Amino acid sequence: MKFEELDNKDIFYMKKAISIAEKGEGFVSPNPLVGCVIVKDNKIIGQGYHQEYGKAHAEVNAINNAIENLEGATLYVNLEPCSHYGKTPPCINKIVESKIKRVVISNIDPNPLVSGNGVKKLREHGIEVKVGVLENEGRKLNEIFFHYIKNKRPLCIVKSAVSLDGKIATKHKESKWISNEKSRYITHKYRYKFKGIMVGINTVLQDNPRLTCRLYEENVSNPIRIIIDSNLKIPFNNNLVKDKSAKTMIFTCSQDNKKINFLEKENIKIIKCPSIENHVDLNFVMSKLGELNIDSVLVEGGATLNDSLFRYNLVDKIKLFIAPKIIGGSKSPTFVSGEGIDKLCDARKLNIENVSLIDGDILVEAEVIK
Ligand SMILES: NC(=O)c1ccc[n+]([C@@H]2O[C@H](COP(=O)([O-])OP(=O)(O)OC[C@H]3O[C@@H](n4cnc5c(N)ncnc54)[C@H](OP(=O)(O)O)[C@@H]3O)[C@@H](O)[C@H]2O)c1
Repeated sequence: MKFEELDNKDIFYMKKAISIAEKGEGFVSPNPLVGCVIVKDNKIIGQGYHQEYGKAHAEVNAINNAIENLEGATLYVNLEPCSHYGKTPPCINKIVESKIKRVVISNIDPNPLVSGNGVKKLREHGIEVKVGVLENEGRKLNEIFFHYIKNKRPLCIVKSAVSLDGKIATKHKESKWISNEKSRYITHKYRYKFKGIMVGINTVLQDNPRLTCRLYEENVSNPIRIIIDSNLKIPFNNNLVKDKSAKTMIFTCSQDNKKINFLEKENIKIIKCPSIENHVDLNFVMSKLGELNIDSVLVEGGATLNDSLFRYNLVDKIKLFIAPKIIGGSKSPTFVSGEGIDKLCDARKLNIENVSLIDGDILVEAEVIK
């Protein structure tokens, strides 16, 4: 087969592997999303994906599901097969035993326990290995995993619904609803990708949100709700205390043991933390979330929390739903509040990744240039 034909074939099957990897979304964190297809004589004879944290890896599922003898086949997998004993035995062993001839991979595993060793071991067993097929797509699929392994803190994405003039609420703090129904549905679906969802205490007091994925699906596992509340102002009858469809954790500097005991009895995790500028220390919060295996956080405001996160350089990406409305008024809050910068050259720079129209709202997705 000519090189070009082989390249096209590799891209075709890797696309398939990546698309089945996505099925693991919401179940495998903090592990990566991995899909695998096994091809022989131009026919898929086995496929599988990593379905749940701690359970079998994609390669093992694909091998176990195979409907034909695997000898001489090509295995496509978006992440380098593991070579170490973790929660499951190394996938390499299973690949070698199956007499698979060729392995095609999108990304080398950034986990230092694997990184490059999987490829090395496969080659030592005489298996042909090709790396880098749909590398960018594989990286995008596992952006949370890559970020978490490298930084040991969650990928932090700030999501907000704003008017065309950047307001997140009116001067009377009314914010329901700025964006349209479809944007809100997309937000609920998007929440599902995250391990945690974070809000400042003023948003809790003002909006009494539930922060679940209910518009997407009633019975999915919701992200852990993370509340930033220096003085434990949260009322006991708040939705985030009473509604048990998701776990809730509160970061606080308060020593009010009576209140802490009450909230703990409601199964709320209270994490005491140091203060900075008389508020919760957000650097501490992010490191602590990393320690707790929370690999991704969607921040849903409001403006004061957003401002602090930007000032401490803790925001990785933004997702802004811009509604075709003007709210106006110097007293209506904008997406990022605070003192602001002195000089334009100090403005936080973004790289726009995508712009789309959602039933008339504009969705802007951007990464923060660090
Ligand atoms: N349109 C949208 O997408 C959207 C989304 C969310 C909210 N909103 C609106 O935004 C408004 C609330 O925004 P907001 O700016 O008033 O409040 P906020 O950002 O929700 O909460 C700010 C509060 O969080 C606490 N906090 C603790 N540590 C902090 C830290 N390190 N940095 C910053 N804050 C810290 C502070 O109170 P303590 O020090 O007492 O803890 C602070 O006053 C509401 O009207 C809500 O409806 C709109």
